[in-house]
Amino acid sequence: MAHFIPGCICLIEMMIDLGLESMAAKAKQMMLMMLSSSFSFSVSSLSAPASVSAVRHPTKSCALVRSACRSISTDTSKKKKKKKEKGNWNAKALEKEKRRTRSLRDCDIEIEEKEEDDSSSTSVMMQQTQTQTHVPVMLGEVLDVFSSNSKPLCSFVDCTLGAGGHASAIIQAHPELKLFIGMDVDPLALHMACSRIRSLSHSHPHPHFQAFTFLDNFRHIKSLLRQVVHPDIFSSGVDGILMDLGMSSMQVNNPERGFSVLANGPLDMRMDPQASLKAEDILNSWPDIEVGRILRDYGEESNWWLLQNKIIQARLQGGLHSTGELVDVIRSVNPRTRGGRQGWVKTATRVFQALRIAVNDELKTLEDSLYACFDCLAPGGRLAVISFHSLEDRIVKQTFLKIIDCCMESGDGSEDIGDLRKVKSDNNQNEAWIRQTIQGWNGTILTKRPLTPSEKEEGLNRRCRSAKLRVIQKVRR
Ligand SMILES: C[S@@+](CC[C@H](N)C(=O)[O-])C[C@H]1O[C@@H](n2cnc3c(N)ncnc32)[C@H](O)[C@@H]1O
Repeated sequence: MAHFIPGCICLIEMMIDLGLESMAAKAKQMMLMMLSSSFSFSVSSLSAPASVSAVRHPTKSCALVRSACRSISTDTSKKKKKKKEKGNWNAKALEKEKRRTRSLRDCDIEIEEKEEDDSSSTSVMMQQTQTQTHVPVMLGEVLDVFSSNSKPLCSFVDCTLGAGGHASAIIQAHPELKLFIGMDVDPLALHMACSRIRSLSHSHPHPHFQAFTFLDNFRHIKSLLRQVVHPDIFSSGVDGILMDLGMSSMQVNNPERGFSVLANGPLDMRMDPQASLKAEDILNSWPDIEVGRILRDYGEESNWWLLQNKIIQARLQGGLHSTGELVDVIRSVNPRTRGGRQGWVKTATRVFQALRIAVNDELKTLEDSLYACFDCLAPGGRLAVISFHSLEDRIVKQTFLKIIDCCMESGDGSEDIGDLRKVKSDNNQNEAWIRQTIQGWNGTILTKRPLTPSEKEEGLNRRCRSAKLRVIQKVRR
C-alpha cells in the first residue's frame, strides 16, 4: 500500500499535467473511496511521494487523504494561476512587439466577390471552388518597398502569383516596368493571375512591356530567368522580387485541396497537384518516428507523441483518408476541458501546418530559393518576403543575415552576428517604412525587425494577422 498511494498521487499529477483534469478528478475520488474505508496515511509532501507511510487508523485516514487531495487541487489552481499570469505576460509582450513592428501605413483593401468572365472549364471550376478572391496581404507596404527605391523598377519577378493581386498592383504602379515574370505551382492560381496580367499588359504605358508567366516552383527561378530573359539582363539581374508565402484563399477555401481544418476533404495538401507526395501518404505509411518529428518540428505541437501514437494506431483500422478523420483523431487527444473548441482547432491548425510543410518540402525550398532569388537581383535590387508562421520567418531572418555576410562562424560552431553587423536607424523621408537596417558586405537588410500589418488591415482581413514582411537589398556597386 505504501507504494500504491504515492503511485496514485503521481498518476493524478501526471493526468493534470497532461490536461486530463476530469480524469484526474475521477481518479482522486476513487482513491478517496478506496483508502478512507480501511487505511490512513500521512503525507508530508506530494512532490516527494517516497515519504508517504501507511498506518491503520480509519478516522485520521479520511482527513489525511482529503488533505492530500486538496493539496493536489491547490497545486492545479496554482498552476492555472501561473499559466494565466504567463498568458497575460505573453499577451503584453506580443502587444509591445506589435507596436514596434506594426506598419503605420493606411490600408485600402478591396474585396472582390467575382472573377473576370471566362467560359473555360478551369474558370468554371474556380468559380465553384471559391467564394471570394484572395485579398493581397500588406499590399501598400509591398508597393512602398518597390516604389520608394531610388532604382527604377524595370524588371520584376513575382514568385507566388496566387490570384495576381500583388502582381497587378505592381504592374499598374510602374510605368517604367519593361519585364514582368510570374510563377506559381498551382495551375488554378496561375490561370487566375494570367487573365488579370494579360488584360493589364495591353494597356501598359511602356511600349516594350513584356509579361511571362510559368507553372513552376520558385526554387527554379534561376533556370527560368535564364530561359526567358536576354543574357545581358540575366547577368545584370532583376530589380525586384516578391515572395508571398503560404496559401491563397482559393486553396484554403477549396475542401478538395485538403488544407482546411474545418471542411472535410481528401488528405491531399499539395500546392502542386502534379507532385507525388500527399498528406495521406505521410500519415499512413511513413515511419512512426518521422510522423512524430514532423508534428514536433513543423507543427511545434507539444502533444506530438500522443498524436503520433494515435495516428499509428489508426493504421490498424485502415488508416486515415480524409481531413475529417484526422480531425477526429486530434479531437480525441484534446479533451473538452482543455480549451474546448479553440483547443482542438489550434492543435489541428498546427498539425495541418506540419503536414503541409512536409508535403511541399516548404522550409528547405524556402531557404534554397532565398539564396537563388538574391543571386538573381541586380545591384540595388530588392527582395521582399511575406511569411505567415514563425518557422518561415526564422528561416527568412537567418538566411538574410547569412546572405549579407554578417554571420561569422565562431570557434564553438555557433554563429556570431556581432562584429560585422552595422545597425543603422534610417530617417530617409522617401522611405518612411524603413526603421532600422543591417548592413553587410553583400547587401542591406532593410527591416531589422519585420514589418507587420497595420491595425486597420488586421481588422479588415483576418488572414493577414500573422504576416511578417522582410526586405533585403543587394549592395549597389
Ligand atoms: C499567398 S498566395 C499568393 C497570393 C498573391 N500574392 C496575390 O496577391 O494574389 C501564395 C501562392 O504561392 C504559391 N506557392 C507556394 N509555394 C510555391 C512554390 N514553392 N513555388 C511557386 N509557387 C508557390 C501557392 O500556390 C499560392 O498560390
